[in-house]
Amino acid sequence: MARKKQAAQPLAPSIVEKYACFRLAVRPSAIHRWGVFAEELIPKRRKIMEYTGERCSRRETKRRVFEREFNYMFTLNSYWCIDGSTGGSGAEYVNHCCEPNIEARIVKEHILYLSLRDIEPGEELTIDYRFGKDVEIVLCGCGAAKCRGTINLLE
Ligand SMILES: C[S@@+](CC[C@H](N)C(=O)[O-])C[C@H]1O[C@@H](n2cnc3c(N)ncnc32)[C@H](O)[C@@H]1O
Ligand SMILES: [Zn+2]
Repeated sequence: MARKKQAAQPLAPSIVEKYACFRLAVRPSAIHRWGVFAEELIPKRRKIMEYTGERCSRRETKRRVFEREFNYMFTLNSYWCIDGSTGGSGAEYVNHCCEPNIEARIVKEHILYLSLRDIEPGEELTIDYRFGKDVEIVLCGCGAAKCRGTINLLE
């Protein structure tokens, strides 16, 4: 099978500060390629950053997900997705973990990332992607004690 394409990406990805409420950095991750790390203490239940990007229709989302190696799409609602690989705030580099320390909330069509617990400086921020079984099944490398094995929800 032909190797999947990758969207154009910066050599050293970074956080767009105006979308972040705490000091964060994109660094190499033990989970997968790049990840987002706290550079200061983030208390529980605080807004951390916004997930930004290009708004894509259902059809365009399907095309990009099929074509690309990594998935930077965040589902906004039943029709629109946000593609963080274009105009992303850096939140698109947050990796999946089966025992995450952040969660997403959609408020007035803005995707906000919030802390689920205190996050120490140097910790990687992680979210449960909860990908469906209708997209490519990806084996999970989160390393959590309760890792479910895939970043998709299969049940
Ligand atoms: C939005 S990117 C996350 C940032 C990614 N680490 C990077 O450097 O581009 C999403 C992709 O990262 C990979 N990924 C994220 N978390 C993962 C995990 N726990 N296990 C395996 N792959 C993961 C998957 O390929 C997924 O489609
Ligand atoms: Zn896992």
